[in-house]
Amino acid sequence: MELSSPFRGTGGFSNRITRLFGIEYPIIQAGMIWASGWRLASAVSNAGGLGIIGSGSMYPDVLKEHILKCKAATPRPFAVNVPLLYPDIDKHIQIIIEEGVPIVFVSAGNPKKWTSVLKENGITVVHVISSSTFAKKAEDAGCDAVVAEGFEAGGHNGREETTTMVLIPAVVNAVKIPVIAAGGIATGRQMLAAMVLGADAVQMGSRFVASDEASSHLNFKNAVINSHEGDTILTMKQLTPVRLIKNKFFKEIQEAELKGASAEDLKILLGRARAKKGMFEGDLEEGELEIGQVSANIKTILPAAKIVDEVWNEFKVALEDPLKKD
Ligand SMILES: Cc1cc2nc3c(=O)[nH]c(=O)nc-3n(C[C@H](O)[C@H](O)[C@H](O)COP(=O)(O)O)c2cc1C
Repeated sequence: MELSSPFRGTGGFSNRITRLFGIEYPIIQAGMIWASGWRLASAVSNAGGLGIIGSGSMYPDVLKEHILKCKAATPRPFAVNVPLLYPDIDKHIQIIIEEGVPIVFVSAGNPKKWTSVLKENGITVVHVISSSTFAKKAEDAGCDAVVAEGFEAGGHNGREETTTMVLIPAVVNAVKIPVIAAGGIATGRQMLAAMVLGADAVQMGSRFVASDEASSHLNFKNAVINSHEGDTILTMKQLTPVRLIKNKFFKEIQEAELKGASAEDLKILLGRARAKKGMFEGDLEEGELEIGQVSANIKTILPAAKIVDEVWNEFKVALEDPLKKD
């Protein structure tokens, strides 16, 4: 089979997302608390994908430092993820504008809130959603693209439990703007599947946690590559649903929920430091370990550039003969 039209004569690839962001491959490294600082983001951008700094775990001065270091480490476009769950959003947005960050991925909140401010400052805005209703809202608010994140995904997640396989065609049908698929994608074959369903690009989180440049603790990276199917669960639906590894901390949450804990009780049990304790300090028992179902398919920790390369090459090989069994 001939490689299809987005591949131009020279072997390059071009579609709505590569043109929107000015990148080589439609591969996006997700913004992730306690994992994606300037080292990971710049490595992915230098490799031809789009690297994203995760600002959710950063104080404003720390975010500024990461943006400055990222700019020094890559001449290529990169983005900042702003999850609207956390404090200091106004300050983060101000720094992003002042430092001329070209692309922002906003998540966990209303797309009406910041889109116009960012757009007025010449920034490309992408909103993360988990339903076609919210995809439409993001489009109506003026976003340039959406990330459609399915139930399999690591981190905070939609309450409705719509899987990537179901979500992508629904969102592609609902909006005209480009759709980036996320949740359960770690290989070139999974990428191809998402693009066959109509996605213009993929965003991978879990796969990039298992990279040399991720700032996550090695204990956490090792837990990721040693995990199996069924080892993660979407929990804390009363508060903000999150997919994590079922460890001792999760069991405490589960017991509290069985005893009828309120959202307030869960908030106290969770605290802000739990995620840092688990993912950044490597406490695999007491900490919160956010990761996607696809961790079961990830077996090695690699340099980020190698991950981009591997996924892209596998995608191209699979595209030439999609039904071939290895
Ligand atoms: C450790 C970790 C931290 C995450 N932190 C954030 C975050 O701060 N903001 C956000 O929008 N999504 C966050 N996510 C979700 C990712 O952005 C991404 O959409 C998701 O990981 C995709 O699914 P996958 O893990 O199956 O690749 C996080 C995911 C992980 C695994």
